Amino acid sequence: MAQVGSVETRVLVAMGDNERVAEHYNRVEQRGLRERRESRIIRLRKFNNWVKDVLIQQYSRPGYTVLDFACGKGGDLLKWQRAMALHYVGCDTALVSLQQAVGRYSEITGPKFTCSLLWGDCFAVDLDSYLEPGLTFDLVSCQFAIHYAFENEARVRQMLTNATARLKKGGYFLGTTTDSNVLLRKLYAVQHLTFGNPVYAVRFTDENARKCFRKDQPFGHKYFFTLDEQVEDCPEFVVHMPAFARIAEEYGLKLIEAKNLHQFWVDQQTVDASMKSFERNKVLGHDRSFPCDEWDAIYLYTTFVFQKTGDMAPLGLGAVDALQRLSDLNEDKLRLEPSQIIRMTVQGSMTVDDTVDSVPQVNAMSDSRDSPESPDSSSRP
Ligand SMILES: C[S@@+](CC[C@H](N)C(=O)[O-])C[C@H]1O[C@@H](n2cnc3c(N)ncnc32)[C@H](O)[C@@H]1O
Repeated sequence: MAQVGSVETRVLVAMGDNERVAEHYNRVEQRGLRERRESRIIRLRKFNNWVKDVLIQQYSRPGYTVLDFACGKGGDLLKWQRAMALHYVGCDTALVSLQQAVGRYSEITGPKFTCSLLWGDCFAVDLDSYLEPGLTFDLVSCQFAIHYAFENEARVRQMLTNATARLKKGGYFLGTTTDSNVLLRKLYAVQHLTFGNPVYAVRFTDENARKCFRKDQPFGHKYFFTLDEQVEDCPEFVVHMPAFARIAEEYGLKLIEAKNLHQFWVDQQTVDASMKSFERNKVLGHDRSFPCDEWDAIYLYTTFVFQKTGDMAPLGLGAVDALQRLSDLNEDKLRLEPSQIIRMTVQGSMTVDDTVDSVPQVNAMSDSRDSPESPDSSSRP
């Protein structure tokens, strides 16, 4: 399936609430570089990109093969090029986003990895049958999206099956998601069921009117999330990290890090490479300030890093040669056409003609109360 210097894309089928999620992301307009620079939430976007960049640089090695759940518009493609990945498989449920990812991939100049894109619900479909036989991954990434899996246990288990089935022993499953400690603490702090600021809004429903979240029932706690310029009233689900870690253990994953993004920022202060990336990515504005509302929105998120127990993942030795071969390739061969997106279905039956053109457009988690205090404003960048 994946050949050096080529890209192909495949499709999965969305279901349940996820179709609604896909619609939300399909509606987000593609912004040009200039518009992205003028975004109202530019600091938040840059900060989130910096977090992802640091995670990728810290846990990947040249020559890695990477699976990216919910890859969106391919916003991390350049990060994977910088990390000298060798092969990248991205999947997402929003077709419009994948088409934009195709464009972004084609625009990357210089040596780049080969790429396959899959369209569909990667928390409902068994990915295995859509992947090249024998293909294994050094790292699985899921940025700002596993909360969509926490609708029920079956989806979480399918997500974990997909994350681990082809992950090498010692390999990493990492990402960013919402921090239930913060979400619930903010919910407890208001009288009603909504909270937020001009940048974001969280709306819990009457189902959670009692604000009682039991540890033994960690799934299906829905809220609606709005983020300026991104999504409006989009259904998401609380991710209870201890429950996530417990189930992940059954799949051979050990949680080695989970940090609220505020704490993540504090801890990276002493890491030279991370702070260089912070400057390179111009996370702060000219006045070196960070808007309070955006900093508060960032507080809603946490990192997570799991390692598959067993031997260490290879450091990509031999990959330098392969990367050299890539760099020698004719740029034309690295083009990705939207028609190469391939469809995957829930049952795993793929029709050969299912290309983009033929597819219609389609507590009490009680520890939440014991979490550390919010970093005070002095810890704001
Ligand atoms: C906040 S965006 C993050 C995109 C990308 N990971 C990034 O960091 O730039 C969330 C993405 O998750 C995707 N998504 C949500 N549920 C999904 C699912 N079940 N399977 C695949 N993608 C999903 C959405 O379409 C959207 O592109």
